[in-house]
Amino acid sequence: MSTYKFPHNFLWGAATAAYQIEGAWNKDGKGESVWDRFSHTSGKTTNGDTGDVACDHYHRFEEDIAIMRQLGLKAYRFSISWPRVLPGGRGRINARGLDFYDRLVDAICAANLEPLLTLHHWDLPQVLQDQGGWDNRDTAYAFADYTALMVKRLGDRVRSWTTFNEPSVIAFIGHLTGEHAPGIKDVRIAYQTAHHLMLAHGLGVQAIRGAKSGLEAGIVLTLWPHEPASDSPEDVSAAAEAWDRNETVFLDPIFKGHYPTAMIDFLGEKMPRTKDGDLALISQELDFLGINFYSRHVVKASQGNVKTIPGSEYTEMGWEVCAPALRRLLVRINSEYRLPPIYITENGSAFKDEISPDGKVHDSRRLEYFKQHLIQLRLAMQDGVDVRGYMAWSLLDNFEWGYGFSKRFGLVHVDYESQKRIIKDSGEWYAKIILANQIVE
Ligand code: FCB
Repeated sequence: MSTYKFPHNFLWGAATAAYQIEGAWNKDGKGESVWDRFSHTSGKTTNGDTGDVACDHYHRFEEDIAIMRQLGLKAYRFSISWPRVLPGGRGRINARGLDFYDRLVDAICAANLEPLLTLHHWDLPQVLQDQGGWDNRDTAYAFADYTALMVKRLGDRVRSWTTFNEPSVIAFIGHLTGEHAPGIKDVRIAYQTAHHLMLAHGLGVQAIRGAKSGLEAGIVLTLWPHEPASDSPEDVSAAAEAWDRNETVFLDPIFKGHYPTAMIDFLGEKMPRTKDGDLALISQELDFLGINFYSRHVVKASQGNVKTIPGSEYTEMGWEVCAPALRRLLVRINSEYRLPPIYITENGSAFKDEISPDGKVHDSRRLEYFKQHLIQLRLAMQDGVDVRGYMAWSLLDNFEWGYGFSKRFGLVHVDYESQKRIIKDSGEWYAKIILANQIVE
């Protein structure tokens, strides 16, 4: 039997995002977001699901915070809906939208939870999209103004500020494959978007620090290790190339101050347009790096990503369960970059859940997923990686973007008809781990 003890101040929490849980899509003066527009367009999401109501968290946040207390969470990671506070993206403030976040943050603090705030988790105001969205450099400046507004309003209670959640997903799923809002499929726009997101991040960090001192500014990246299918030199070099092409597009500008050579070689004339000083802004020191980890890619030179590895378990998303890849990833980036303290800002799994006759949700595979990843995380910390906290994805089952409500990631089951919440076995287990501050296996 082994015991994995965590440091006494380790920050245990859970995460959500505004569009995935809030609902109230047009309530109290909220403006339309690109996700409202996208999900309202037929054929874009599974079953035509939308975030119009989602978990109705806008009206039920107090109940949800009570659940967080029951779980014993120490932190709650959530995001602000930009069009709820600035319906036109800039300019006129929607006081009722701002009041909502004020009440939410008050309630989080009253419950003794540390609020970890993300400014942008994909729901860009549609008005800004109509003006070119992230392909338009001006959007980065609008983001900085929005950031300053939020810091002035909430900076007295919120210490931890994340500019963006997963810029790669906005750039490449939103603008290259088109499976996410705004549904664009264009290589040039995708990489220009990537650059403008980076610029907005840099301007945002500046705006956070300019609006108030003593806050912590960071960004959240999703990282998928690309690991070779075998030891053959071909597979090893194909995996290295895939990593360079995909995962360093954001890591390098932020932590090294330049775009990766692999990206420059690959894009040639399609490299995004930049201005002098952009990279200096982008590579400002950060107070933390958030990492979202779900799985890895296994690369075979002859066929690219291997779909199914014999003997491996897969989640409902089709993602391989491979916890040791988390430890390898952390150790690798820790040696290749000079990183600030790390938080795991998302980690979790979608499995088919059912409510058993005893009224409970016995989600043993999700529980095991959390356990194995936390053990590997602890081992990475022993290897010398400075990890300060872990946010389970997600507090609640919620609107999983293009998949609508068909994928459940929650520690808490949500019945979307009745809005009834049930803490799953994984949630009960997580509460015990937090209380003990250790895992025994
Ligand atoms: C991440 C997103 C999060 C959620 C999980 C499953 O990429 O940040 O909103 O959809 O995947």
